[in-house]
Amino acid sequence: MLKRAKISVIGAGNIGGECARSLAMKELGDVVLLDIPNKDKPELHMPKGKALDLACCGPIENFDANLTGTFDYKDIAGSDVVVITAGLPRKPGMSRDDLISVNTGIVKHVAQNVKEYAPNAIVIVVSNPLDAMVYVAWKVTGFPAHRVMGQAGALDVARYKTFLAWELGVSVEDIQGLLLGGHGDDMVPLPKRTSVNGIPISDLLSEDRINACVERAKGGGGEVVKLMGTSAWYAPSAGVVEMVEAIVRDKKRVIASAAYCEDEYGVAPGAKGKGYFVGVPAVLGGKGIEKIISFKMDATEQKYMNESISHVKDLVGVVQKMFPEMA
Ligand code: LAC
Repeated sequence: MLKRAKISVIGAGNIGGECARSLAMKELGDVVLLDIPNKDKPELHMPKGKALDLACCGPIENFDANLTGTFDYKDIAGSDVVVITAGLPRKPGMSRDDLISVNTGIVKHVAQNVKEYAPNAIVIVVSNPLDAMVYVAWKVTGFPAHRVMGQAGALDVARYKTFLAWELGVSVEDIQGLLLGGHGDDMVPLPKRTSVNGIPISDLLSEDRINACVERAKGGGGEVVKLMGTSAWYAPSAGVVEMVEAIVRDKKRVIASAAYCEDEYGVAPGAKGKGYFVGVPAVLGGKGIEKIISFKMDATEQKYMNESISHVKDLVGVVQKMFPEMA
């Protein structure tokens, strides 16, 4: 018998709630929204409340998807995909890295439960600092690396395309571009490989204007934090949904994702089983990360990539200091 996909979203905050809404609206599967009880207000049940509210969008927006809100990890059993959004968001003035000590503990706890209750799931991590949190989820679940990934590139690329489309006065749909590396301010945009329907961006915009778009994309998360007092949630959720759709529909989409690398892009050459998760172009399908697409970067691109990789390694080093078993 055919069955709908089951997608569990851990963390019913802004990103979790928006993910649940878009996943249901796109009918990508039944959605379980899980969070922990509010210690100060034990009478509340936020995930159940959000699931109930969202379920009642169904008749208006014409979707069939069951939405469940829960505090109980038993309810994620049988999940095809688990999205980990749990953790603190940024406050103004904070970098993603400032969240590392508290979010490592949270993601570790979530990953232990995912391992126990949804051992066959494909895991997408959203919590920050992203590349280190994917590493934590991978280490703690012990899942094969192709079943663990991070959402960052989908979002960063979307920001980059948006700013270029505004600059050019053309549709966002007609911009092709890529952005690799870690999900930090040293992420690596690739203007040389950016085009408007195949027309190189350098034929259409001055270097200054391209650089302005690149810089705005790099700081795009921080720009939103400054405006709203907390991390972005609409575009990060859209990035998650793009990845989930590629997986549950087995689309083989090429999406920049935080994926496990060793030799790829010189992340950790020859380091068998001791690689890192870094944003790279990946083929996403029913098995998770089905392939990493490698291409030869030019010297400047590789230099920026190396800097970004070394930042990711530093962050993982902090995690390993906290929890030596994650080395
Ligand atoms: C951002 C956060 C969610 O970039 O990482 O907005």
